[in-house]
Amino acid sequence: MAIRFNMHRKDFIKGSCGVCLALGSGFLTSALLSACKTPLGVIKSVASNDIVSIPLAEFDKSDYKIIRVSNYDYDLAIQKNKDGTFSTLLLKCTHADQPLTKTGNNYYCTAHGSQFTHEGVVTKGPADRNLTQLVTNVAGDLVKIQLITTL
Ligand code: FES
Repeated sequence: MAIRFNMHRKDFIKGSCGVCLALGSGFLTSALLSACKTPLGVIKSVASNDIVSIPLAEFDKSDYKIIRVSNYDYDLAIQKNKDGTFSTLLLKCTHADQPLTKTGNNYYCTAHGSQFTHEGVVTKGPADRNLTQLVTNVAGDLVKIQLITTL
């Protein structure tokens, strides 16, 4: 026995499309918002003449930041040291150049499993070299990081 709905095809399509549109726009908005979010502790920046400048004030509340530089292949990890100087690591695996992921206080390479300490010392291979340190200086109220351009 067939059940018949008392709704015209045109009304059904209109109603269905309205629901789809509402769901779709909600989904799209949600997807866009999540894509725009920057994880806590990540600073987006741009380089000028291969130098990234970060305001010192960024380190008022936290001694550690990840820097995501526009059009640069790898994130940087910058640490404010107890003596007021800064150290910056290039988050590029020394095994086969894959980007690293922060895991707790360490860095992990998802490609083949290499691990590095917070200071960039390799603790598990196949990588056999420590992470690259970038020259980092304080100039006025800015921290300046010299990028390596031959990645
Ligand atoms: S590229 Fe990182 S372990 Fe191979």
